[in-house]
Amino acid sequence: MGAGPAGLVLSHLLYLQGIDSVVVENRSRQYVEDRVRAGVLEQGTVDLLTEMGVGERMKSEGLIHYGIELRFEGRGHRIDFRDLTGGKGIMIYAQHEVLKDLNNARLATGGQVYFEVENVSVHDFNDAYPKIRYRKDGSDHELTCDFIAGCDGFHGICRPSIPEGVLTEYERVYPFGWLGILAEAPPSSDELVYTYHDRGFALLSMRTPHISRLYLQCDPNENIDEWSNDRIWQELHTRLASEGWRLTEGPIVQKGVTGMRSFVVEPMQYGNLFLAGDSAHIVPPTGAKGLNLAVADVQVLARALERFYTTGKRCQLNKYSHNCLRRVWKVQRFSGWMTSMLHRFPGEDPFDQRRQLAELDYVTNSRAAAQTLAENYVGLPLT
Ligand code: PHB
Repeated sequence: MGAGPAGLVLSHLLYLQGIDSVVVENRSRQYVEDRVRAGVLEQGTVDLLTEMGVGERMKSEGLIHYGIELRFEGRGHRIDFRDLTGGKGIMIYAQHEVLKDLNNARLATGGQVYFEVENVSVHDFNDAYPKIRYRKDGSDHELTCDFIAGCDGFHGICRPSIPEGVLTEYERVYPFGWLGILAEAPPSSDELVYTYHDRGFALLSMRTPHISRLYLQCDPNENIDEWSNDRIWQELHTRLASEGWRLTEGPIVQKGVTGMRSFVVEPMQYGNLFLAGDSAHIVPPTGAKGLNLAVADVQVLARALERFYTTGKRCQLNKYSHNCLRRVWKVQRFSGWMTSMLHRFPGEDPFDQRRQLAELDYVTNSRAAAQTLAENYVGLPLT
C-alpha cells in the first residue's frame, strides 16, 4: 500500500528476490514524482539503491557531501563525516528523483504499480489470505495476497485499520514548524548549514548546483501569505549571517510551512499486515531521517519475507517490529536531540539558551561528541 519510497523500494527488492507484489497508490504518478520532499540520503540508502540497480542517475546527478556545518554566534564549525566515520558521507538527491528512478525500474521489469486508485481498504490480515479492495477506472477490484505492507504514510488507511487496543502511540508535537523555500540560486555553501540563532533555527540545504533549499523555524500555524519573498530573504540573511560569507538570492519557485512531530506506533505489525515508513513513525526533519528510516524498515521486511518464502519460517517476520523499533527509537533520539539543540522554544529562559550554546560548543569541539553526531547523520547500521 503506497508508492512512496517505502512501497517502491520494497516492491523492487521483492522483485529482485523473485517475489511478486502489487503497489496500490491513491495519488497520480505525476503528483508523487513532483512533490518536493526530503533530499538527504544516508550512506546505507545510497548503497542499497546502488545494489538494487536504481542508482545510476543518483550517481551522476547527486551531490556527495562529507560533512555539515553547525553555525552559531555568527561562526561556522564543520563536522567532518569522512574523518569521524571512517570515510562515510551522505548524498544530496531529491526524494522525488529517487521515486522517478524506482518507478522507471519497476515499470521496466514488469512491476505492477497502480496509481489513482480509490476507496482502498484492507481486510482479513489476521487470516492466511489478506485482501485489498479498491476502485480503479470505475470498477471495483479485490486482490488476495499473502501479506500487506502498509507503506501509505502517516495519514494512510493501514494503521487505522488495525483493531483498537492493539497499537500504542507515542507522540510529541513541537511548538514550531519550518517555512521552506526552493530557490533558483546556486547554494551559498558547499555543504548543509544548520544554524542556531536568537531569532530561531535556519537551514541552508540544496538540491542541485543551481537550486537552493532553505528553511526557517516559524510558528506551526504560520500563514505563508504573510511571508513575502523579501521578508523571507531578509530573515534568512539575518539568521544565517556569518563573517565573510554571503547568501545568494534567486527566484523562489516553491514555498510552504510544515509542522513538526515525533511519532511512533508499537508494534509495527499485526497479523499479516506490516507497517513501514511514515505509517509507523514520523521524525522531525532536523537530521533528515524520514526517508532513510522508511528505506531501512522495508529492507528489514524484504529480508524477513525472503526468509519466509525460501524456508517457510516466520521467525524473521515475527521479529520485524522488534528489529525495526530498535533503530526507529535511536533515530527518534537523534532527530529529537538535533531539534532541541538548534531551535528556540517558547517559554525557554536564558539558562536554556546558554545550555544550548554549551551543547553546540561541546559538539563542535569534542571529537567524541562530533563523532556521535556524524555516525548518526551518515546512518546507523541496519540492525
Ligand atoms: C532538505 O534538504 O530538505 C533537508 C536537509 C536537511 C534536513 C532537512 C531537510 O535536516
